[in-house]
Amino acid sequence: MFYGQCLLIERDSFFLDRIQNEKSEIPFLTVRSPREGITVLSRPQYRIKAIFVSTSFGIMESKKLLSDVRAINEEIPVIYLCHHSHLAIPLDNDAAKNQVFQIENPERKSDLIHKLKELFPNQFNWQGIEASPEEKGQELQLKEEDFIGVKTEDFLLTSKSFFNVFLKMPSGKFVKILHAGDPLDSGLLEKYEEKNVTELWIKEEEHRRYTNLTEKTAAQLVKSNSGKQVTAICHLGDNVVRELTKFGIDDNAMAFADKFVGHSVAVIKRLRNVESRMDPLWEELLNSEHSTAVVVLSGLLANELGFESSKAIKLVGVAALLHDIALFKADPHFPTENEQDLSEEQKKIFKSHAKDGAEMLRKEGIFEEVVIQAVAQHHDRRKSLPSRQINLVSEIIGACDTFYHKVVKGQDEMAKRFFLSDDLKEFSPSVEKAFLKILSGSKTKKQA
Ligand SMILES: [Fe+2]
Ligand SMILES: [Fe+2]
Repeated sequence: MFYGQCLLIERDSFFLDRIQNEKSEIPFLTVRSPREGITVLSRPQYRIKAIFVSTSFGIMESKKLLSDVRAINEEIPVIYLCHHSHLAIPLDNDAAKNQVFQIENPERKSDLIHKLKELFPNQFNWQGIEASPEEKGQELQLKEEDFIGVKTEDFLLTSKSFFNVFLKMPSGKFVKILHAGDPLDSGLLEKYEEKNVTELWIKEEEHRRYTNLTEKTAAQLVKSNSGKQVTAICHLGDNVVRELTKFGIDDNAMAFADKFVGHSVAVIKRLRNVESRMDPLWEELLNSEHSTAVVVLSGLLANELGFESSKAIKLVGVAALLHDIALFKADPHFPTENEQDLSEEQKKIFKSHAKDGAEMLRKEGIFEEVVIQAVAQHHDRRKSLPSRQINLVSEIIGACDTFYHKVVKGQDEMAKRFFLSDDLKEFSPSVEKAFLKILSGSKTKKQA
């Protein structure tokens, strides 16, 4: 798992030809001159994590590039690619400490990746989980904030558990039920489900690996067009939401977010022409985290509204995933968005969460303006703010957000009818029409 991409500054056509068809688990952005390289690096949205620069530009030019890079980023690894020994850059003893390296006579892209694996071992190595020291079967006083819950019914089955797994007792204490490496079968999970154990708990440092496993499983199921693909993407979404809640917007969480949104788009596009497309979704959305459900619904709605390219639907998905990020940050267990149920303090947080969330995203420097705006405006309504320009992505998220609360989670028929007769009317007519079209594809009794 490597988040972001590598910048390759190269003009050696032989080398470029040789590597151009080589598959790679990491995206490379190639430019032909140091000047273009600096332009790319200065734009955070490219998420450049390492720079490979050919010494074929000449030793002076390569050294100048390094100082230009350091003026922008003091830490990013710079790896010289030296195709001819007379163009090798003499590196001093502190080079490695200063994140400067050299590869002599690189043959293939895999030589570059080999170097990255050395530089970022944690981002490639998912092995090596060991049984943690706690004994099984004993009630332990452990801190809940060190754990992340995973749904029992979706817990990924592997012949051996990759994780140390705990139960949370009603007393708040934890009991370890599996050491990493213990056999894991469906019978064991069913036993806990029967006992109404809805969540199993994994230590936060292992959860990222769990999310990684979830992503790999979802990718396989999406590729195979299996009937379980909706379940798989929702499970992945929930884990991504929990990572974002726990760790905030960091590179790893965003890498998973990217994958989740990407897989959702693939599934959404496939569902488009299925008449009963909402049927497999209802149950999943009902049991999913709020943000996961809003991502899937927003993708469907965007697609219905004519967003065709995967890139456009992904943008909607990212905005949907992060629309309430400020609520999670303020309180990972923010109870509800129903204002009547909130304390005074929570009301304050709720009131400013759209603006605060947009501010958080802006500070990250990696999000497109449309995403930031959508988060800022997701509670604004065209009807009540006729003078304000509310972007379509905000409307999509706003409509799906309301739909989730009123229809997916709402238990009474009145709320559902009100959604159709009043709530939807607050949006642009095209949004209303597209939403009704999606709902007309549903045959379930939950149809509004
Ligand atoms: Fe919100
Ligand atoms: Fe929301």
